[in-house]
Amino acid sequence: MAGLFITFEGGEGSGKSTQIAEIGNWITARYPDIELVITREPGGTVPAEEIRKILVNGDKNKITPQTEALLMVAARTENVHKIIRPALDRGAIILCDRFADSSRVYQALAHGAPIEKIDQLHAFGFDNLQPDITLYLDLPPEEGLERVSRRNSDVADDIETESRFEDKGLGFHTRVRDGYLTLSRTFPDRFHLIDGQQNKDAITQDIIDIIARKCEQFDDR
Ligand code: TYD
Repeated sequence: MAGLFITFEGGEGSGKSTQIAEIGNWITARYPDIELVITREPGGTVPAEEIRKILVNGDKNKITPQTEALLMVAARTENVHKIIRPALDRGAIILCDRFADSSRVYQALAHGAPIEKIDQLHAFGFDNLQPDITLYLDLPPEEGLERVSRRNSDVADDIETESRFEDKGLGFHTRVRDGYLTLSRTFPDRFHLIDGQQNKDAITQDIIDIIARKCEQFDDR
């Protein structure tokens, strides 16, 4: 019994978490007997959430891009072995907030590491498991960064805002978007570009239109 592995990708402030919650509700309503697993990266397991704290908090230059890449893949390896693969083997539907494409884009295409090296790390960690569907919420980086800074301004001063990546600046985040657009041409079968500037409900509907076909395999379970 095979499950379905769906990943969500996008730049800062692209609305992934909102959409994952909406799509989770849609799946539960339509397939109440199918197990739904929602996870995120970096994170998803207790040790991977520990690694996340190093990655998303503090000064943008506190670790080298190479260390950043290794920690991202280390956290992902935990998530694949402990959460994602067992869930796939149980026949679950998995929604993952970011996955390997985030490292291909942020650590390789935006930070300059060769993409092949990142894929070699993924091969070492977890045999380069690929998602069945990747939903990329596309948004101009100016707009995404603006949304995030509005969100952070509402947060109390003593709470960490996980803003280490936002602090890398507009040039970096423009390369992130260009990187995602490159991947959407590299993996046309699984990679779906969604206009993240639409209203929330229109984005949800676009995603449902894409995943409904793939979910048909669960209709007679
Ligand atoms: P995330 O929690 O998805 O942040 P947001 O909801 O603000 O997009 O991810 C945290 C940060 O980690 C985000 O700025 C992107 C970065 N990141 C990488 O650089 N490489 C990776 O492989 C992953 C998973 C995340």
